[in-house]
Amino acid sequence: MNKYALVTGSSRGIGRAIAERLAKDGFTVIINYKSNQQAAFSCLQAIEAAGGKAELLPFDVADGSSIEAALTAWDAAHDGEHISVLVNNAGIRRDGLMVFMNETDWHEVLRTTTEGFYYTTHHVLNGMLRARNGRIVNIASVSGISGLSGQANYSAAKAALIGATKALSKEVAARKVTVNAVAPGFIRTDMTADLDEEEMKKAIPAKRFGEPTEVAALVSFLCSDEASYITGQVISIAGGMG
Ligand SMILES: NC(=O)c1ccc[n+]([C@@H]2O[C@H](COP(=O)([O-])OP(=O)(O)OC[C@H]3O[C@@H](n4cnc5c(N)ncnc54)[C@H](OP(=O)(O)O)[C@@H]3O)[C@@H](O)[C@H]2O)c1
Repeated sequence: MNKYALVTGSSRGIGRAIAERLAKDGFTVIINYKSNQQAAFSCLQAIEAAGGKAELLPFDVADGSSIEAALTAWDAAHDGEHISVLVNNAGIRRDGLMVFMNETDWHEVLRTTTEGFYYTTHHVLNGMLRARNGRIVNIASVSGISGLSGQANYSAAKAALIGATKALSKEVAARKVTVNAVAPGFIRTDMTADLDEEEMKKAIPAKRFGEPTEVAALVSFLCSDEASYITGQVISIAGGMG
């Protein structure tokens, strides 16, 4: 029987590193992405070349009906099986000082994180509760803990995700489903490619950006059997920031 792990936004960056790591851990990984089919296919090929198993499942996490349609189709094609690991990873940045921030940038960032969490988790949770086994890991940010200037939208979205993590963990702990948040600092991906790493790393105690594989290692542990007594936590991986 396959053990399925759904990682939203796993065509690139942190999500891709998590997908590759969970495949090494023995999960059949469901690679979600929004539009970059080529990157998603490259992730699938890397997992298969390493001897792992994966499938592609595109949907837009900012669109509840797209999530419902994709996950309902997945259920129909996998009779009697369920997703035992969910990593809510897909996210976007649209930075700007509040005084200049337009409505679209506010709503898109909030919607991607909060609608994505609601619709995906709501759909997948039933199977975990019935199986009395599940792991949910939400990729937040130190921005959602400390707040970062120019990121009122992003900090609000990630703080909401942290609140939902804590509340849901209490609802489902007795059914052996754990819910945790991981809060990365600056990690080297496409999302941070426009930042001046040389300048910004001076403010990081570890004096460097993190790597996606380092976040993936933490997520892998939280999804393991050994982590069954850790729930409702927010674990920073930020080189001492926050
Ligand atoms: N990088 C950092 O320093 C950092 C720090 C703290 C937190 N985080 C968080 O970590 C997560 C991953 O970040 P990253 O740096 O790996 O980002 P990234 O390199 O920009 O990759 C984003 C991934 O999310 C997918 N995605 C974006 N919008 C989506 C949508 N509406 N529906 C489905 N998939 C969508 C993208 O798919 P496509 O390829 O199809 O576009 C891609 O796979 C995000 O939640 C981010 O907020 C990142």
